[in-house]
Amino acid sequence: MSSSHSFFKEKRAWSKIKDEVLKAYLVPYLAKVSRTRRPIIVADCFAGKGRFDNGEPGSPLIIAEAIVHQLADPTTQAIKGVFIEKKYFKELQANIPQTPWCIPLDGNYEERMDYFVNNYPSRDQNLFLYVDPYGIKSILFSYFEMIRKKKDFHSVELLLNLNTFGFLREACRLLNCPVSENESPADYERDINSPERLDEIAGGTYWREIISRYNVNQKMQIAEEEFIDKYCERLRTVFRYVVNIPIKARLSHIPKYRIVFGTDHEDALLLMVDNMNRRWAKFREEARNNQGTLFEMDFPNPSKQGACRDIENEIVSLIDTGIELKDLLVRLAQKFGINFSISDYKDCLKSMEGNQIDISRNPPLTPATGKPSTSWEHARKDLSIKITRRAQWQPPLL
Ligand SMILES: C[S@@+](CC[C@H](N)C(=O)[O-])C[C@H]1O[C@@H](n2cnc3c(N)ncnc32)[C@H](O)[C@@H]1O
Repeated sequence: MSSSHSFFKEKRAWSKIKDEVLKAYLVPYLAKVSRTRRPIIVADCFAGKGRFDNGEPGSPLIIAEAIVHQLADPTTQAIKGVFIEKKYFKELQANIPQTPWCIPLDGNYEERMDYFVNNYPSRDQNLFLYVDPYGIKSILFSYFEMIRKKKDFHSVELLLNLNTFGFLREACRLLNCPVSENESPADYERDINSPERLDEIAGGTYWREIISRYNVNQKMQIAEEEFIDKYCERLRTVFRYVVNIPIKARLSHIPKYRIVFGTDHEDALLLMVDNMNRRWAKFREEARNNQGTLFEMDFPNPSKQGACRDIENEIVSLIDTGIELKDLLVRLAQKFGINFSISDYKDCLKSMEGNQIDISRNPPLTPATGKPSTSWEHARKDLSIKITRRAQWQPPLL
């Protein structure tokens, strides 16, 4: 039986990380996007009850709190929270704030998305989609493509809970590929009836090859990493930047699911990388009982482990003649996902200054003090921080 029956009894540890990712992103997101002076819609597409049975806030209340926080700024334009729920609509309605900007919608995500894509006048609004289903059956890839193709939104961002393990388990069932007991999730929805439906969810047929490799001699953990890499690659045809965090019960476990983020904006990417990196670091420290290690092994994206250990050379290889700090950070975030925080990169650059790289700032002096600028603030519009590779530096041969 699926654990969805007891989902709202109390929050599991891994649900808390998901909430923290949402909460920590929404506040700066709303502040930043409010500056566009265009209305914002935060759509919680699988909203649930609003509150857990033990009183803990669910995603609708987390979203409502972030909106209230932003609305306290008198310059803010209209912000709406839209909450879609098919089973617990009454509970949802009773639990969310009774205000005109909080809009509960009774019914199906699929039908609401159809309406949204085909009939909703988007009028240059900013849209943030939070998609948090129990499983995978409803999350057709084409919805993301269609909503993104609606040209008249000012911006669209997506935060998606993707049950990669459940997907692969269902894929094995439908392709008659045996799975050992300890590689099977305790609960997942066994209700997808054809491989073609999985194609629609994955946005392609690439998953079939992953399953045939798994069938021969691969571990589920590797299959899961391959699947999320391909899914994100596919989602990069919809959003310019895509990153994800694995959500696990234990460090050594296969992820229970992934939180996947898609955006077209550099600032949003860097904000989310920092946010997800922080959640991962906290989870890792707690899992190790706060005991440090000499060499970091537990990266959220293990396939990049080798490159992570050689970060200085990786950084230098991304600098041709010269590059703005922010552009370099974006390239590093694309390459390493959430393996490092933005301050990790900056610390690394500081230690490389005068060795492999040089830094120049424009204006070179801090206007207030007249002293040479030493700022590392990559988001400032009035300051350029340029990084160049030293001419004599040569990449190592091995
Ligand atoms: C994982 S729970 C959402 C939890 C919620 N985001 C939170 O953090 O409190 C998924 C919710 O989606 C609802 N649901 C399932 N299928 C749905 C569908 N097709 N359309 C709308 N809601 C659906 C379920 O009733 C359930 O309340």
